[in-house]
Amino acid sequence: MRRWRNYVIGICSIAVAGLVGSAAFFFWPHGLPQVEASKSQPTGANLIARGEYLTVAADCAACHTTKSGKPFAGGLPFKLPFGTIYSPNITPDRTAGIGDWSDAEFVRAMRSGVGKHGEDLYPAFPYSSYALLSTDDILAIKAYLTTLAPVSDSVPENALAFPFNQRPLMRGWKLFFVPWSPFQPDPGKDKRWNDGAYLVEALAHCGECHTPRGSMFQRKQGVALSGGDVDGWQAWNITSDKEHGLGNWSDQQIADMLATGHAKDRGVAAGPMREAIDLSLSKLPQSDIDAIVAYLRTVPPVPGEADHKAVRRERGELDASSTSTSTTLQAGKDIYAGACASCHGWNGEGQFNPRAAILGGHSLADPAASNVVRVILQGSSDHASAPGKTMPSFAKIYSDAEIAALANYVVEHFSGREGTVTVEQVSHAR
Ligand code: HEC
Ligand code: HEC
Ligand code: HEC
Repeated sequence: MRRWRNYVIGICSIAVAGLVGSAAFFFWPHGLPQVEASKSQPTGANLIARGEYLTVAADCAACHTTKSGKPFAGGLPFKLPFGTIYSPNITPDRTAGIGDWSDAEFVRAMRSGVGKHGEDLYPAFPYSSYALLSTDDILAIKAYLTTLAPVSDSVPENALAFPFNQRPLMRGWKLFFVPWSPFQPDPGKDKRWNDGAYLVEALAHCGECHTPRGSMFQRKQGVALSGGDVDGWQAWNITSDKEHGLGNWSDQQIADMLATGHAKDRGVAAGPMREAIDLSLSKLPQSDIDAIVAYLRTVPPVPGEADHKAVRRERGELDASSTSTSTTLQAGKDIYAGACASCHGWNGEGQFNPRAAILGGHSLADPAASNVVRVILQGSSDHASAPGKTMPSFAKIYSDAEIAALANYVVEHFSGREGTVTVEQVSHAR
C-alpha cells in the first residue's frame, strides 16, 4: 500500500487546476495518436525480449502486482486522503485487463495519461515520466504484456470523494506537468550518458521518488533529484552535491547501491528503494547500471536542508560507551543492546552478515529518523534468501515510545546528531 502524503495539498490544488482544465479540455490530446514502430524495432522473439527488459526496467510490477496476487493483475491500493484508487489489471484479459486495447490506446495511456474510454488517469500512474519513452519502446512493452497469462479478476472500484472523482480535473494538471514529446538524445554526449539519462528520467522514473514535489503534486524540475518523500520515507538527494547528494560517492559505491541495495561505507537502501532494487534495478545489465552512474555524475548539485546532510561519526568513536546518555537515550541504548547489536554491532559493521553494515548510511544522520523508524517498524526485504539475513520487523515488539527512544539513540550514536523523533511520529508511521 502506498500513501502519497503530498497528495493532500496536491490534489486540492488540482481542483484549481481543474478550472484551467476546463480550458485545457480542448487542447489536451485525447484523440488517438498515429502509432507505427520504426524500421529498427525488433520483431518476433526479439521484440518480446526487448519488451520484457523494458517492463522490468520501468518496474510496472511494483504497482500492478500485489504481494500475494497474480503478476500484473493489479489491485494494489493507493491510499489518498480523500479516498483510495486501485492499480488496474494490465494482463491481456479482454474484459478485466487490457487485452482489447489497440496500440494507439496503449501509447496514449502511457504518454498522455488517458484510459481506453478517454478518461483521464491520475498521476499515481507515473505517465509524466513514461511520456518520455519512445513509441518503439512503448509498443515493445505492450507486445510483452500480451504474452502474459490473462487474469480475469477485476480490481475493486475506486472510492474517491467528490470532486476528486472528477477525472477531467487532471487535464489542467497534465497541460502543465506532462512532457509533450519523447526523450531526445543529446548529440553532444556519448551513448552511455544518453542511455543513463533515458533510464533515470523515463524508464526507471527515479525522479518520481527522488524529486521534491510542489503544492500541485508536480515534480519541481528546477531542483530535480534533490530528494523527495515517498510515503514518509526520505528518498535522498541523488544530485552531485557533495554534502547532501552523491558528489563524494565513488562510482563503485553508487553502482553497488543500485544493483544490490548495499554499498561499502554507505549503508543500505530499504523500503521503496529496496523494492525498486529487488524487482527492477538488480535485474538490469551492468551496462545499464554504469550508464545510470555516468548520468547521475552530471546532474547539477542541488544542496538541501542542513538536516539532510549526510554526516557520520568515525569508526573509532563508536564503542558501546560512546554515547552521552540522557535517560531516554539510555532507554534506547538498552533496546539496541538487546535487539540490534547482535546483528549490527556497536560500530555498525554487520556481524555475520555484511548487509547489516549500516555505518555511513544516510538515514542514520537524519534527526527526524524517518527511514530508521520505518525500517524498525516494517523490517526490510521479503526477498532475502535465508532467515537471519534480513532485518526483522519490530512493530509488534516495541511501543511507540520505545521505538522513538531507540531511533533517537541510533541517530545520536551513529551521526552525533540529536534525534527529534516523537511518540506521535512513530504512531503516525505505523
Ligand atoms: C508507481 C505506480 C505505477 C507504476 C510504476 C506503473 N503504474 Fe500503471 N497505473 C498505476 C495506477 C495507480 C493506475 C490507475 C490510474 C487511475 O485509475 O487513474 C495505472 C494505470 C495504468 C494503465 C491504464 C489501465 C486502465 O485500465 O485504464 C495502464 C495501461 C498502465 N497503468 C500500464 C502500466 C505499465 C505498462 C507500466 C510500466 C511501464 C506501469 N503501468 C507502471 C500505477 C503504476
Ligand atoms: C519508489 C521510489 C524510488 C524509486 C523509483 C527510486 N528510488 Fe532511490 N531511494 C528511494 C528511497 C526511499 C531511498 C532511501 C532508502 C533508505 O534510506 O533506506 C532511496 C535511496 C537511494 C540511494 C541511496 C542514497 C543515499 O544517500 O543513501 C540512491 C543512490 C538511489 N536511491 C538512487 C536511485 C536511482 C538512480 C533511481 C532510478 C534508477 C532510484 N533511486 C529510484 C526511493 C526510490
Ligand atoms: C537479524 C539481524 C538484524 C537485527 C536483529 C536487526 N537488524 Fe537492522 N538490518 C539488518 C539487515 C540485514 C539490514 C539491511 C537490510 C536488508 O538488506 O534487507 C538492516 C538494516 C537496518 C537499517 C538501515 C535502514 C536504512 O534505511 O538505512 C537500520 C537503521 C537498522 N537495520 C536498525 C536496526 C535496529 C534499530 C535494530 C534493533 C531493533 C535492528 N536493526 C535489528 C539486520 C538486522
